[in-house]
Amino acid sequence: MTTPVDFDLTAFAHGLPKAELHLHLEGTLEPELKFALAARNGIELPEKTVEEVRATYDFTDLTSFLAVYYPAMRVLQTAEDFHDLAWAYLLKAKEQGVVHAEMFFDPQAHTSRGVPFENVITGYRRAAVRAQDELGISAELILCFLRDFSAEYAMATLMEALPYKAWILGVGLDSDERDNPPTKFAAVFARAKAEGFFLTMHCDIDQVGSIDNIRAVLEDIGVDRIDHGTNIVEDPALVALAKERGLGFTTCPVSNSFVTEQMKADEIVGLLREGVRVMVNSDDPAYFGAYVGDNYVALAEQAGLTPTELVQLAVNSFEAAWLTPARRAAYIAAIEEYATAQGVPLPAQGVRLPA
Ligand code: HPA
Ligand code: ZN
Repeated sequence: MTTPVDFDLTAFAHGLPKAELHLHLEGTLEPELKFALAARNGIELPEKTVEEVRATYDFTDLTSFLAVYYPAMRVLQTAEDFHDLAWAYLLKAKEQGVVHAEMFFDPQAHTSRGVPFENVITGYRRAAVRAQDELGISAELILCFLRDFSAEYAMATLMEALPYKAWILGVGLDSDERDNPPTKFAAVFARAKAEGFFLTMHCDIDQVGSIDNIRAVLEDIGVDRIDHGTNIVEDPALVALAKERGLGFTTCPVSNSFVTEQMKADEIVGLLREGVRVMVNSDDPAYFGAYVGDNYVALAEQAGLTPTELVQLAVNSFEAAWLTPARRAAYIAAIEEYATAQGVPLPAQGVRLPA
């Protein structure tokens, strides 16, 4: 079976049922909403137009991105603000074929400036519940600790989150990796695991000590997934271990092209073709100008992916999601039905990894 000649790859990629597993809610703050929230909260912004805001998106690395990302958040104050942010994202996600989202949020970016944790979690949770009811998207939250704050502050944040445990699927680690290795948070992640949370951590692209940090998250922390993490290609033995464990890698090609010089398509596609459970996500789509379906298209165009390989990426997104086996199987069946209806051959069964 071959793909039809008049095949529209962009439409196919957007319509593919997919899970988004690497998405920072605070990274979905579009300039228009930023202005609306600033007006609602009586905040004066230095930039006066959308173009002026976008002109500040001049990133060369993770640090220069974070220097724009955090100050923008001051417009987020009330539970309603957090709801509106997440809801705006979920509406976009629907258009991009997302049927399940496990979304990061950064409570310390708010509690550190005096916004109560309760405002953050109740606003986000209300949008997640609404997404299920009104959009048919299952939306879950992953609490990320900011690694440039102390381990004590992370532990205090975990304690603050425990009353809301039923609303939080897992915990992650983000922000500036430089001098903030995974082992700094070993006790926090051990406690989170004991409380029943799934674990993930960012291993950002081309950091000093990237491969050592990846080894630590695999061998010492025992994460259930890795965010980015494609520097693992530097150590084939670690690749073999990740493959054997069926570990998910939440890659973000367009984000990579903003914080490094390239999408890292060779690394992502190399891992995909080796049978490692990589999938594609959007990271901070308001800043990088690409939501998740757009990331599928960008990677496909850069690397010459076949429609069948796009199907494999979508399958991987559910294989790596924190779902029950029955729900995972139902989502994968929906992908197979979609691909078959469009005349796209399914990936070889042998590529499918154990759950
Ligand atoms: N890496 C680290 N911190 C972040 C990211 C990221 O990709 N996005 C938002 N905060
Ligand atoms: Zn990220």
